[in-house]
Amino acid sequence: KTTALIMAGGKGERFWPKSRVNMPKQFLSLTDDGKTMIQLTVERISPLVDIKDVYVATNKNYRELVKQQLPGIPEENILCEPVGRNTAPCVGLGAVHVASKYDDAVMIVLPSDHLIKNNEVFADTFKEAVQIAEEGANLVTVGITPNYPETGYGYIKYNQDDKKNNAYSVEKFVEKPDLETAKSYLADGTYLWNSGMFVWKVSTILDCFKKFMPDTYEGLLKIKAAVGTADENAVLEAEFPNLESQSVDYGIMEKADSIYTLPGNFGWDDVGSWLAVGRIKKNDDNSNVINGNVVAVNTRGCVIEGGEKLIATVGLRDIVVVDTKDATLITTKENAGEIKQVLAKLREEG
Ligand code: GDD
Ligand code: MG
Repeated sequence: KTTALIMAGGKGERFWPKSRVNMPKQFLSLTDDGKTMIQLTVERISPLVDIKDVYVATNKNYRELVKQQLPGIPEENILCEPVGRNTAPCVGLGAVHVASKYDDAVMIVLPSDHLIKNNEVFADTFKEAVQIAEEGANLVTVGITPNYPETGYGYIKYNQDDKKNNAYSVEKFVEKPDLETAKSYLADGTYLWNSGMFVWKVSTILDCFKKFMPDTYEGLLKIKAAVGTADENAVLEAEFPNLESQSVDYGIMEKADSIYTLPGNFGWDDVGSWLAVGRIKKNDDNSNVINGNVVAVNTRGCVIEGGEKLIATVGLRDIVVVDTKDATLITTKENAGEIKQVLAKLREEG
């Protein structure tokens, strides 16, 4: 049995002001087809997983959004976290739900906010990943060939001479190294980026929780015991907030053995900021991506998202303008990744 867990609890702050606490990136459409990122994620995995076996872990505030955007998913598969505890508890919650339904299924774990260019290659890659996960107590991650020293990603050092079909065994997994280290990994040439997409048997990942995050494991067992009972929600509300806030990358992947990586050559983009929108959406003749009520004169390389007002630009290069009812963002493409600082400042000033 193959199941999927879609992680959709992130706040997506880097798409402010269009993404808000009540409308993060995974629920927005950032492509020309009008589909939202989470809808694209479910569509992409449909050749491998029955929609009835797709689980979505999200914050309880997003339950209605998930229901609206993914009407085919059984309601009991929308797993609502009372508070955000990062991706390790999210994966654990998914695992106990799958485990309480199936004896030992494979679980494909996917972020809800990435874009993939070639869905066929994607499906083929995951078919193979599922096979490797089924073969043993393996943690399979899909790796991406890095092209710059990004410090916001995980890095996978793979063993070139230990190959299982297209997959390599992993020597070490390093989450978010500093710039110097990331540069040395790139120069080394035997590292891949962690795409944040994983495949494992539920029994394998639960054993990892037991070994590397034993307190979290205890909490998860209590939650599991209540699945499907009248107390389910009360137990979740009581136990989930006590779980350690930790990512699956730091909490498990950096510590585990028996990791395999499968290079993913399907065109991967984690759509990190407004800069990515200029890369993804169709550009006009002046390399702009313009939406809404906009008059652009001598404007090139810009991303402009209009709201209700008319926006006029003259003589701009590589600028991002995003206008909404109550907030307007103006930045350069280069600085578009720094929006989190604006939000931090807003919070500081109350
Ligand atoms: N349900 C739930 N609950 N989902 C969450 C939570 C949570 O508390 N926190 C994050 N998510 C979701 C996000 O919406 C996103 O889809 C996914 O989990 C990954 O979380 P990020 O916060 O975006 O992780 P990251 O970008 O810092 O790092 C991960 O992704 C990189 C690639 O994009 C790591 O796996 C890195 O190793 C990897 O390189
Ligand atoms: Mg991310």
